[in-house]
Amino acid sequence: MNDKIQALRERFAARLAAAETPEQIEEVRVTFLGKKGPVADLMTELRGVDGAEKARLGQLINTVKAEFSAAVTAAAEALRKAAIDAQIRRARLYNPSLPTEPQRGSYHPITLIQREVESVFASMGFVIEDYPEVVDDYHCFEALNIPKHHPARDMQDTYYLDNGQLLKTHTSAAQNYIMKKYGAPLRAIFPGRCFRNEAIDACHENTFFQMEGIMIDEDISISNLIYFMKKMLSEVFRQDIRVRLRPGFFPFVEPGFELDISCLICGGEGCPSCKNSGWLELCPCGMIHPNVLRAGGIDTDKYTGFAFGLGLTRLAMMKYGVGDIRDFNGGQMKALAQFSGR
Ligand code: DAH
Repeated sequence: MNDKIQALRERFAARLAAAETPEQIEEVRVTFLGKKGPVADLMTELRGVDGAEKARLGQLINTVKAEFSAAVTAAAEALRKAAIDAQIRRARLYNPSLPTEPQRGSYHPITLIQREVESVFASMGFVIEDYPEVVDDYHCFEALNIPKHHPARDMQDTYYLDNGQLLKTHTSAAQNYIMKKYGAPLRAIFPGRCFRNEAIDACHENTFFQMEGIMIDEDISISNLIYFMKKMLSEVFRQDIRVRLRPGFFPFVEPGFELDISCLICGGEGCPSCKNSGWLELCPCGMIHPNVLRAGGIDTDKYTGFAFGLGLTRLAMMKYGVGDIRDFNGGQMKALAQFSGR
């Protein structure tokens, strides 16, 4: 009988190991522990055994019975756990306390356009510089040929700190620092967040982004400026962009211009978006004023340069067709997430 029990144990273990579903496990239980199963048969056989041997074998059979029963329960439990694990994996739950659909982040449309412009200029040998948002009067105005009481300051009212520092009104505020940092020749772009005291509406914000660019070298002229702007805009809009210059006044450039691009909607024919002119105003620019170059430590007998102040927020509005500037700072994730990958 001992051998029989040993053989039974092995058969049971093999059958249980092969069971892959709860039904198959239940079948193993019924087969081995049921009324007509081998364990019941052993009990019947036990009747024919006598004395002390009967007691020993009886105990052994009970142990086997308990063993089988525990093994069946454990196998069923393991299967249940594996099923739950598989379900979790299928639902891609990284953490059971998170919602089942993991939230993917996305880039802000201004970040997207900034990176695009940066990569075009970087490919043309421009360095990309960062600069603080809190600046002093000298860098924001004085060094840019805007002395105190100059009327050009009126358009650039901003937020002042108690210590006299201010939130920069334009990225031009970094020009002096960058000229001093690198000297000439120099090609640099410096994107940044700017602030002004504005009445907010669909076209005006108190917080917006610009990207300044300067190129200083021997014999730099307006044709260099036109070339770089055309190249960059054609890359960003993925079409050939025509540009034109109109005179514009900014104290830190001479001559100064407003650079217009051919209307992206009508291609220059004239439509409501461009007020039927065929042109959109995009980017003020000009040849850097000698006073500004001198303040930056640049030798004006040897070097000239151009500068531009690209409105990144404005560019993003044009590229993505955003009609209201307030959408950029409104914090509406659903609205802002649509532009990634475009
Ligand atoms: N800083 C000017 C503004 O925000 C824009 C500007 C004009 C920048 C002409 C330039 C420039 O570099 O050459 O109003």
